[in-house]
Amino acid sequence: MGQKEGIRKLYSRWTPIYELAHHLQTIWRDSKYRNIVANIVDIQPGERVLDVSTGTGLTGLAALVKQPDAYVVGIDFTPAMLYQAQDNIKKNSAEGRFGIVIGDMENLPFVNNSFDVIISMYGIGGIEDREKAFAEIVRVAKPGARIAAIEMVSPPLEKRLKRMVHKSLVEPWIKRLWGFRDIELERPFEKHGINIERTEYHDEFILGSSKLVYAIVRK
Ligand SMILES: C[S@@+](CC[C@H](N)C(=O)[O-])C[C@H]1O[C@@H](n2cnc3c(N)ncnc32)[C@H](O)[C@@H]1O
Repeated sequence: MGQKEGIRKLYSRWTPIYELAHHLQTIWRDSKYRNIVANIVDIQPGERVLDVSTGTGLTGLAALVKQPDAYVVGIDFTPAMLYQAQDNIKKNSAEGRFGIVIGDMENLPFVNNSFDVIISMYGIGGIEDREKAFAEIVRVAKPGARIAAIEMVSPPLEKRLKRMVHKSLVEPWIKRLWGFRDIELERPFEKHGINIERTEYHDEFILGSSKLVYAIVRK
């Protein structure tokens, strides 16, 4: 079984309890992170927003709460997660404002310069070939598009004690579970000509920190 098939199977299996598991994993901070992402990009009426690896659609929905006159496209390659997203969209009366696309982040089914805003909550870390996905995000972003991505990483360097405990006790388990840790957001974006405007750490737990990167596309 290829790595991608494995990721899809894992998320299919987890779909029924995904949202609960995510609350637990983030110690109930997940909606806070979604709101941080949705706030920082300051979506304007009529703008087109891409929700990277949308899963059950909750990040795209948070964006629509901030700006009800935007149009969100959520892409993901796990059908089970997207069925759940469809239910969430219905429950939030967002049909017509939130479109769902089944597809691969490494090969996006959109033409160049399609989106004004790109948002991602824990949507990049699990992608097998992240370099490809970064290149695709830049390709479909319009010049001047705003990007906000948040990922779970190790506590920042200054938090020495937490970082040390995290690195020795927590990280090996996370690596075993997810197969990766501390994905880079700044360097790959900068490599593709994106200006990083802001990097913030939120909640420096021993379990991990959430790192937000806000960037603007120059092309
Ligand atoms: C942590 S979950 C989604 C989080 C979601 N953004 C949220 O706010 O809850 C990660 C998602 O990435 C999707 N995924 C992983 N690799 C992908 C790829 N190459 N293309 C599309 N979706 C992918 C999985 O199917 C899964 O739904």
